[in-house]
Amino acid sequence: MITFDSQQQVFNLSNSKISYLFSIEEGGLLSHLYYGPRIRHYHGERRYPRIDRGFSGNLPHSKDRTYSKDDLLQEYSGNNTGDYRLPAITVKGSDGARFTDFRYDSYRIIDGKPALPGLPSSYVKDNDEAQTLEVNLKDATLKLTLTLVYSIYKDRAVVTRNARLQNNSNQPIDIEKIASMQLDLTKHDYDLVYLPGQYALERQTRRVALNQGIFEISSRRDSSSHHMNPFAALVDKDTDEFHGNALGVLLVYSGNHKISIERDQIDQTRLIAGINDFNFSWHLEPGESFQTPEAITVFSTKGLNGMSQIFHHLLRERVARGKFQYADRPIVINNWEATFFDFNDQKLDEVVKEAKPLGIEMFVLDDGWFGHRNDDNSSLGDWFVNKDKVNLKRVAKQTHDAGMKFGLWFEPEMISVDSDLYRKHPDWALAEPGRGSTLSRNQLVLDFSRPEVVDNIFQQMCKILDAVSIDYIKWDCNRNLTEVYSQAVSPDHEGEIAHREILGVYSLMDRLTKRYPNILFEGCSGGGGRFDAGILYYMPQSWPSDDTDAAERLKIQDGTSLVYPISSMSAHVSVSPNQQTGRSISFKTRGDVAMAGVFGYELDLAKLTDDEKQQVKKQIAFYKQHRHLIQYGDFYRLESPFTSNTVAWEFVSPDKSEALLFMFRQQHTNRMEIVNTKMVALDPQRDYSDMTSDQVFGGDELMNVGLYRDPKHVGDYLSEVHYFKEV
Ligand code: DGJ
Repeated sequence: MITFDSQQQVFNLSNSKISYLFSIEEGGLLSHLYYGPRIRHYHGERRYPRIDRGFSGNLPHSKDRTYSKDDLLQEYSGNNTGDYRLPAITVKGSDGARFTDFRYDSYRIIDGKPALPGLPSSYVKDNDEAQTLEVNLKDATLKLTLTLVYSIYKDRAVVTRNARLQNNSNQPIDIEKIASMQLDLTKHDYDLVYLPGQYALERQTRRVALNQGIFEISSRRDSSSHHMNPFAALVDKDTDEFHGNALGVLLVYSGNHKISIERDQIDQTRLIAGINDFNFSWHLEPGESFQTPEAITVFSTKGLNGMSQIFHHLLRERVARGKFQYADRPIVINNWEATFFDFNDQKLDEVVKEAKPLGIEMFVLDDGWFGHRNDDNSSLGDWFVNKDKVNLKRVAKQTHDAGMKFGLWFEPEMISVDSDLYRKHPDWALAEPGRGSTLSRNQLVLDFSRPEVVDNIFQQMCKILDAVSIDYIKWDCNRNLTEVYSQAVSPDHEGEIAHREILGVYSLMDRLTKRYPNILFEGCSGGGGRFDAGILYYMPQSWPSDDTDAAERLKIQDGTSLVYPISSMSAHVSVSPNQQTGRSISFKTRGDVAMAGVFGYELDLAKLTDDEKQQVKKQIAFYKQHRHLIQYGDFYRLESPFTSNTVAWEFVSPDKSEALLFMFRQQHTNRMEIVNTKMVALDPQRDYSDMTSDQVFGGDELMNVGLYRDPKHVGDYLSEVHYFKEV
C-alpha cells in the first residue's frame, strides 16, 4: 500500500480506490502532489512548476528566485520562514522566536496502524488491514523532530493523519499551534460543505462557495460543540448527493478544534485541521513529545452519499468498539421529557408498568436521582442516591423483574456550587482564584486535568455501578468551558488545560468502558453538543439533540448522517405539541422520523390514548422487525430537507435483498406537486415486493421509474414507509 520511489523521491500511498502522493522537494521540503482516485502508476512528471513571484521569498542561502515556500503545495508548513499562508505549526523557542522550518530527515513504513496514547483513533483488527508511513522532519535550529503519520486502509478510501513533536534540544519550547494535518490542493473551484448549528438545532448542512481568503470551522468551547461539528468537505461545483468528488475531513477529537481553509493568491487551497490554537500553548521540556489527535480524510467519487458511506463504515467498523459495536440497540423509554426532575418511586414504577406490555426494552432514568437534586441548581459531583426521592436498587430490580433493561444518567465532568464535593474541594472546579466564574446552567466544570479529580469521579461512579445492576449509561455534559484555569499547575502550563481536560475526559471514559464492558454507553451533551468521532470511540451511540420535534429532527438527523452512522443516532418519539417548538405532528410521523434512528420514546406513556398505545405497539413491532437493517444497513439520502420540501431516506441491506424507504413531506402547499422518488443501490435484476401494498417491482423499475407518493395526503409533515423484500 505504501511505497517510496527513491529516484523520484515520491511517497505513494495507494489502494484499489485512492492514491495519496507527495514528494521530497529541493531543500527537504515535503510537497503535496495528489489525493484522489487511484493512480495506477505515477510517472513523476508533475513536480511543482517554478516561477519567480514577486513578494514570495526564496529559501535561505539560495539564489534560485523561482523556488518559494509561498506557493509550493506543502504537506505541513512552518511559521514565519517564507510561507505567508497559514502555518500548521508554530513554536516559541526559548529565545522567544516563533520560527519553524521543518525539513525531511527519514521515514519508516510499518504494517498496521498504531494507537495514539491517551487519544481515540480509528484502529485495525489485524496488521494486514492498513499500513502506516511515518516521516520524520527536523528543525535544525530548534532541534525538534516532527513526525507526520499517514495510515492507509487496504479496502477503504481513507487516509488518516496525525503528527507528533519531539523536543530533542536541551531547552524547553512552547508549542502554540500544532495541526493534525495539512492538505494543499492545486487551483480549483471548491464548494465547502460543513455542519454548523446551535443548541437544539445541531448539524445543519450548509454549502458555500470558497473564494480567496480564509474560512474557519472551529470551536473555542472546549467541546466539539453544537455550533460547529469538527468536519469539512471540499466538493466540486457539480458534486451532488450521488455524483462528483467529495473530500471529507473529520477530526477524532472532542475539544477545541479548528479546520481552516485558505484559498491563496493563485487559487490553491490549503486545509489545516487540528486542535484549535485559541488560548493553546503546550510547554515541552527537553526529551518530551506531544501527540496530536487523529484526522480522518476520505475521498469519494460518488458524491456526498458516497462520502457518507465511507465515513459510516469506518466509524461503525473501525472507530466504535466493544460489545455493542454491532449489537441491535434496545428500544428505550426515557423519563426526561415525561417527568423532568419531578419523580418518585411510584411514578417510575408506572413507567415500567406501562412500557413493558408495549414492547419497550429498556427504561432509562434521567437526571435527578442523586445528591439532593430536584432541579438543575445542585448536586453535580455528588454521585450518591437521593434516598428521599428514589430507591435506585429497587427501581433497577423492578425494571429487570419486568424483563426490561435499566439505564441511568450521569454528568461526570461537572460540579454544582451547591454540592458536597464543591464544599470540600472548591479548587477542583476550573477557575482563576479571585476572578468570578461564569455560570452556565448554574454549574461549573471539574478540573479533569487533575488525575485525582478524575479518580474521585471514577470511584463514585464505580460505587453506584457495583451496587446497582445497570445496563446503560447516558453520559451528559451540559455546559461549555470558560475561565479555563487549573489551580494545580504552574503558570507556564495553563495553556495546556483545555486539551488536558479532554484527555481527562477520555481517560475516565476509557476506564469506565473497560471496567464495565457490558454497559451500553450513550454520549450526550445537552443534546448533540458532542456528537463526534472521539466520543464514538468510547460510546457507540449519542443523543443528537434536545429538540425532539419531528420536523426539526428531519434536518438534524439528515445533517448528522452526512458523517455519522445511523447506529450512532438515538431518536425518540415525544409529545405533541412538541415541548421545544410547540408544533403538532401526527403520532405516525413522529414515529417514522424516530424509527430512522436508534428508536425510543420520551413521553408519559400513561397519558397516551388507547389508539396511541396501539400505534406504539405497531411501531415497536415494525422497528424490531427491521431494526438491524435500519441500524446497520447502508443509508442513503435520496431527498434532503435542506434542499427539498420532500425528504426520502433509504436503508438497503448489504446483500440488496431488502430495503426500507422512508418518505416525508414538510409543508403542504396547494401546488399539489406530484413527487416521484427513485431508489438506489438495489439489484436491477431482482424483483422486490412492497410489503405495504403487496405490489411487486423490479429493482431496475424502483431505481429508474421510481415511486409516486400517495397524492391523497393533505397536510404538513406526513410520512410514508415502504418495506421491500426480494421475491
Ligand atoms: C440534557 C440532555 O440532552 C437531556 O436529554 C436530559 O438528559 C437533560 N440534559 C437532563 O439534565
